[in-house]
Amino acid sequence: MKEDPVVFIKELSEQDRPFMLNHFLGLSPADRRLRFGAALPDEAVTKYVNAIDFNRDTIFGVYESTFNLVGVGHLAFPLPENLPPSEDVQPNRVAEFGVSVSAPMRRKNVGTKLFDRAAIHCRNKHINTLYIHCLASNRPMICIAEKAGMEIHKDHGEVDGYLKLPHPDTDSIRQENAEERAAILDYALNGKMKEAMKWIKRIISPEKHDASKTSSDHH
Ligand SMILES: CC(C)(COP(=O)(O)OP(=O)(O)OC[C@H]1O[C@@H](n2cnc3c(N)ncnc32)[C@H](O)[C@@H]1OP(=O)(O)O)[C@@H](O)C(=O)NCCC(=O)NCCS
Repeated sequence: MKEDPVVFIKELSEQDRPFMLNHFLGLSPADRRLRFGAALPDEAVTKYVNAIDFNRDTIFGVYESTFNLVGVGHLAFPLPENLPPSEDVQPNRVAEFGVSVSAPMRRKNVGTKLFDRAAIHCRNKHINTLYIHCLASNRPMICIAEKAGMEIHKDHGEVDGYLKLPHPDTDSIRQENAEERAAILDYALNGKMKEAMKWIKRIISPEKHDASKTSSDHH
């Protein structure tokens, strides 16, 4: 059985900007179209990254190593007039989520984890609706949205998804704090926490680990 990597999600700040640029420049034209709605040239991607305001928006990242950012989730707080009309949504408490994962790291749950972290962050900030927009052909993104229980509206080959969020509680606040602390520690230790987690898992359930080792030995 293939094991997904341990994923630590860290809130990004100014010092991460150069690594964010590398991440976005590493996306293919097709991925840029899915992420930004157009296959932006490198100059436009650079402009976009330079314009990110860390005081206004919240950005999350997954580092594979100190210099390699393999996933970026961006929570933006759109102006009410830029949101599609919806009866239930209180526009002043909506955040829009955009995400990208580097091609070699896909299908390992990184996108899902970034979404989950964004959702709990919004909840803890008293945002009541998380919103996504993507092409109707974007299977992985729709898969993430459906798994989270988003309400999906399809129209003219595009999709709007809305997730209603509950009020924060001590567990949601504790969970986010714990995730952030683990990610900061992992980054400081340069990925060593991931190795430690694998080692701990091996001790907790050696049978599972041996089974996965045996099955992977056959490939
Ligand atoms: C969308 C994206 C972020 C998903 O990242 P990811 O890390 O590969 O996602 P996950 O591994 O968490 O997979 C999420 C789900 O989609 C499914 N999935 C992933 N790729 C798929 C594909 N090509 N076709 C069908 N399903 C797919 C996975 O099986 C998983 O579902 P499961 O948990 O039920 O197995 C990534 O594909 C990407 O960066 N795409 C380009 C940018 C983009 O489209 N951004 C979204 C719009 S803002």
